Amino acid sequence: MADQYARSGDDIGPTGIPAIRWDEPPEGPVLVLLDQTRLPAEEVELVCTDAPALVEAIRSLAVRGAPLLGIAGAYGVALAAARGFDVEEAADALEGARPTAVNLAVGVRRARAAHRAELGRSGDRKQAAEAALAAARALHREDAEASSRMAAHGLVLLDELLPGGGHRVLTHCNTGALVSGGEGTAFAVALAAHRVGRLRRLWVDETRPLLQGARLTAYEAARSGMAYTLLTDNAAGSLFAAGEVDAVLVGADRIAADGSVANKVGTYPLAVLARYHHVPFIVVAPVTTIDLGTPDGASIEVEQRAGHEVTEITAPQVPMAGAEAGGGIAVAPLGTQAYNPAFDVTPPELVTAIVTEEGAVSPVTADALAELCDRSRQV
Ligand code: MRU
Repeated sequence: MADQYARSGDDIGPTGIPAIRWDEPPEGPVLVLLDQTRLPAEEVELVCTDAPALVEAIRSLAVRGAPLLGIAGAYGVALAAARGFDVEEAADALEGARPTAVNLAVGVRRARAAHRAELGRSGDRKQAAEAALAAARALHREDAEASSRMAAHGLVLLDELLPGGGHRVLTHCNTGALVSGGEGTAFAVALAAHRVGRLRRLWVDETRPLLQGARLTAYEAARSGMAYTLLTDNAAGSLFAAGEVDAVLVGADRIAADGSVANKVGTYPLAVLARYHHVPFIVVAPVTTIDLGTPDGASIEVEQRAGHEVTEITAPQVPMAGAEAGGGIAVAPLGTQAYNPAFDVTPPELVTAIVTEEGAVSPVTADALAELCDRSRQV
């Protein structure tokens, strides 16, 4: 079951947005999500008391973004265990909620394994539930740490690739604190550049159809005091042609063993543009997003979403006044069919570098990725 309540918003800062938190009120444990479908109009929390509510929150994108999906999945298993539900059933449902971001499966499997191991060892359901929660908390903490290490590595790489400073960076979708235990992936690198005075401008793709760029990245950029400009996705070409983009920074939902990158639909065209215009195209993702079990881009399952997300605009309305206020939301005739993949796949040869918490891989090759994953396992 899910419940909603509005919070004041005053305590939600650009770097401390509680996208997810575990709480234990007297009525029993809950998982509290910042409902991302309502941003930026309202900061509303969604309270999940069972796994089906969390599955629905994942499908509706109330909680979203690869690293956060992993954290949510792990807490979801812990929630089912703490509330005495069937943990195996809950874990299956959570793992299957969305197919592309591998982090969801990684998070669910980690908490499920901890639960199984403790149940097998002690036979005690309460202790097993605690083990699942400890696994979720560890993943949450590790993601925050990975985030700051990615930011540091990404900043070094940006400075190497663009020695002049004053970076004008284009980003797509939303990759900040809203998708992470920390400050995010690609956005965290831009934020690091901003903090040291080297980000001249963040170009924010609106990211149709669900507007994660316009609603969420612009929200995070504004709250961080960055110089940012929003553009429609199809304006990116003319921006490159005008020489206004120095680098592209994006996140990833799954990186296959050959270095193919699945990310929000619209990423691949940016990689093609970047190559044509000789601009670095940088992917920032934690090692948990690299899936050596998926051999190549063609093997990545791309989520197909409902057509109404394209034929209608359903974003929450931000109160506006004066001449700029639009108000219309119908964008296609009734009965129009829509093509609506949630992600696309960028081949490794278009990716300048993949930045992880363990360092950057460039050029992107299967051997270099396997070596990085090996190194990460040994730490
Ligand atoms: O459909 P979404 O909003 O979950 O898609 C999110 C993205 O594509 C992000 O770019 C990706 O998860 C990387 S976030 C660090």
